[in-house]
Amino acid sequence: MVHYEIEGGHRLEGECRIQGSKNAVLPMMAAALLQKGTVILHNCPRILDVFCMIRILEHLGCRADWEDNTLMIDAYELRNCSVPREEAKKMRSSVILLGALLGRCRRAVLSYPGGCVIGARPIDLHLTALEKMGAHLCQEEEDIYVETEGLKGAKISLRIPSVGATENILLGAVLADGTTIIRNAAREPEIVELSRMLRQMGAKITGDGTSCICIRGVRKLHETEITVIPDRIVAGTYILAAAGCQGSLYFPQVPARQLVCLKELFIHWRMTWREDGAGLYVCGRQNYPAVPYLETKPYPGFPTDLQSPLAAVLLKAEGESHIRETIFESRFRAAGEFCKMGADVKIEKEVCKIRGSRHLHGAVMDAYELRGAAALIVAGLMAEGCSVVRDEGFLMRGYEHIVEDLHEAGASIISRRCSPSL
Ligand code: UD1
Repeated sequence: MVHYEIEGGHRLEGECRIQGSKNAVLPMMAAALLQKGTVILHNCPRILDVFCMIRILEHLGCRADWEDNTLMIDAYELRNCSVPREEAKKMRSSVILLGALLGRCRRAVLSYPGGCVIGARPIDLHLTALEKMGAHLCQEEEDIYVETEGLKGAKISLRIPSVGATENILLGAVLADGTTIIRNAAREPEIVELSRMLRQMGAKITGDGTSCICIRGVRKLHETEITVIPDRIVAGTYILAAAGCQGSLYFPQVPARQLVCLKELFIHWRMTWREDGAGLYVCGRQNYPAVPYLETKPYPGFPTDLQSPLAAVLLKAEGESHIRETIFESRFRAAGEFCKMGADVKIEKEVCKIRGSRHLHGAVMDAYELRGAAALIVAGLMAEGCSVVRDEGFLMRGYEHIVEDLHEAGASIISRRCSPSL
């Protein structure tokens, strides 16, 4: 258990570097399995989800070495094609190993994946797509056994533009026999990054970043070296923290084009958003209007991963805000904790209603999932007095140095390891 102790009311100011993207690097690590050499990933964040993926890759037979934030994965020889159950349970992204393992070994065993408790999170799209490509599935209790005589290209229309399913299909299709077309594919920047890496390895992919991706299977992929893009969700969290704390922050290399939905909010709030080449300067203000209605959507819409940090900012907005969560059904766990700070927040089915108030007081709050935990930190920074966010390790799954980053920007925040009973 980690306790984050925050004294609210400090203005954020200065420069903030953004770590490499969690959601980009995890599928890249899976892609390393598709070649028999070493893949080098620069700007790799040292976060729990990456460590979990490393443990899985090592179990499969890979060797992983770090040099600062560079991760080297040697996948010359695999001795195993089954993902250890305890690691699969910890991280939902383990499911994307299915496509890569089928491509490399033609077999895979996986337990139903875990991850943050933010909704049902089925994997039917992953499994039906792989079946369509010639994989045979057998499910025994919690384990899924998948086998193929060789994946074949297929035409796949996704019912929902699932990020993970699009990645899984890409990873399976690059070494498949023939051409695969994904319709209603996810368009997230992380899909573009995975495609960029796979192309560097010799794959033939077009259309990534659009809703129709075409993959022509090749016989072999080779080693590569690539720099992971900055994490747009971490950047978005800090940008929203600046909005909530009248902060003035400069981000030297932030993916501003991927955050247009935040720029629109800054315009609505009459706050400063200034892009200069690779950098972004944002500056908050004391009084800002509520957001009458906003829906989370697949990219380029407002990301579900920033919904809770946005809700934190709206606790102090003037008027009533409504946020509709359309991606994950149980993603308002942070809202109950906001009420402990005196906030007026109500959940009605998939809509979160927030009546803004200038006064938030510090409170002891519990984190239930990664982005909700980040939102509680943002709320703690905005409140008067001291807050404690009790977290079982969710934040460390995705934020490499949230305490150091915010501390450097002027926040009063420390983290303390505690026994669960405290
Ligand atoms: C990824 C991100 C996560 C982000 C989410 C949505 C990673 C590691 N995680 O998660 O941070 O919040 O995208 O942007 O990249 N669905 C099904 N069946 C499936 C798969 C998905 O019904 O087989 C549904 C999900 O329940 C959800 C929606 O599709 O309602 C979108 O999920 P998906 O895009 O797959 O999210 P993840 O890839 O798990």
